[in-house]
Amino acid sequence: MISSNTNINKIRNNQNGLQDDLLTELADIYMTPLYVYDGDKILENFYAFQKAVSMLDCKIHFAVKANSSIAILYLLGKAGSGADIVSGGELQRALAANIKASDIIFSGVGKTDEELLLAMQHSIGQINVESGPELERLSDLASSNNLKCSVALRVNVDVDPGSHVKISTGQNSTKFGISINDGQAENYYQKITLHPNLVPAGLAVHIGSQIRKLAPFEKAYKALLNFSNHLRSKGFDVPCLDLGGGVGVDYETNMSPDFFDYGALVNRLFANQGYRLGFEPGRSIVANSGNLITKVIYVKQGYDKRFIIVDAAMNDFIRPTLYDAYHKIDSLRPRGDFKDIADIVGPICETGDYLAKERLMPLVKAGDYLAVRSAGAYGAVMMSNYNTRPEASEVLYHNGEAHLVRKRRTVEDLIKMDTNPFV
Ligand code: LLP
Repeated sequence: MISSNTNINKIRNNQNGLQDDLLTELADIYMTPLYVYDGDKILENFYAFQKAVSMLDCKIHFAVKANSSIAILYLLGKAGSGADIVSGGELQRALAANIKASDIIFSGVGKTDEELLLAMQHSIGQINVESGPELERLSDLASSNNLKCSVALRVNVDVDPGSHVKISTGQNSTKFGISINDGQAENYYQKITLHPNLVPAGLAVHIGSQIRKLAPFEKAYKALLNFSNHLRSKGFDVPCLDLGGGVGVDYETNMSPDFFDYGALVNRLFANQGYRLGFEPGRSIVANSGNLITKVIYVKQGYDKRFIIVDAAMNDFIRPTLYDAYHKIDSLRPRGDFKDIADIVGPICETGDYLAKERLMPLVKAGDYLAVRSAGAYGAVMMSNYNTRPEASEVLYHNGEAHLVRKRRTVEDLIKMDTNPFV
């Protein structure tokens, strides 16, 4: 699955990890903007997560939405990860990366008939249902096509994760999950239990992303546990609790996350409760493995501000403008100790097209490379072709070798999808 074996798209390196010299060399070869991932760091993070929860009977399902590179999914799958998916497309990616169907969990509020059918035809491990209408549709499709599937209910425990509003999913005011406060969830769980083609798998919760405190997890997990114990007390079979993802990372330091406290919390709450557990981490596994390398096109002295105009834009990396996200940005070429404030902006014709605002930056020049740090999660997966800009390429460095794992499309590739009915 990890292709690219020619000299052009594979370079060897005896350095340890992604040093700036290596990033520069890769940018020279593959051109910018360029995502470069450190596969060794991804595995290190995955094993650290695994270790933190190793005392429990559990399975980790990497959230494919965070980084859906097939090469990365393949490495994670080989290391023992399953996949948490949110679309038919992600299902096919996970399968293409050799992840077993039985290790795949399907989340999301708007699964279509085609996606539900595809999931059942592949006998995936579990479908997390998020509403009454979805459960009805799934039941009908299962009956009419004579298919079986394992179904969990994603519940809404009404907990504020204390994260950015656009990535908070735990409150009753959001579209996610089925409330446990009004009898709906119990009613639907009973329906799953009674349906001949559906196998009750348990409950799932996911309260949001980039959660930096333990308290929201504790509150949510306690509510989940109370509810599942209540279901069990009524005689329902609740084998598994899927605890979702959401563990945050430190974008200031780019250090690998320490899962110890999270693991200790989960262990304290769930040890000896008789549940199999599932986890769906995304960001915490891949964020700090990734650098987005971009080249300075111009340095412009504006009326009262310096602008460093680079070749990566909001179409390549939307987190800063969409979530006001902070990402550290370093110059890959030393330019002395003197630093001055600048906005780092892309070429797109919107004021919202920036990677950083009011950053103390060295006196970089046109042609210098900058590295946007911790860009491994929700970076490349959220790229678009706005302004008819082909997406950045992606390179994975692993075991001392760099592999081109996704090639940039050409403008011709983009244009040929259009048709003009008038000529
Ligand atoms: N499980 C479910 C059901 C989810 O919706 C998500 C993320 C995850 C797991 C993984 O969460 P993580 O461990 O990565 O926090 N684009 C945004 C993040 C959106 C997260 C959506 N759901 C960003 O760039 O911050």
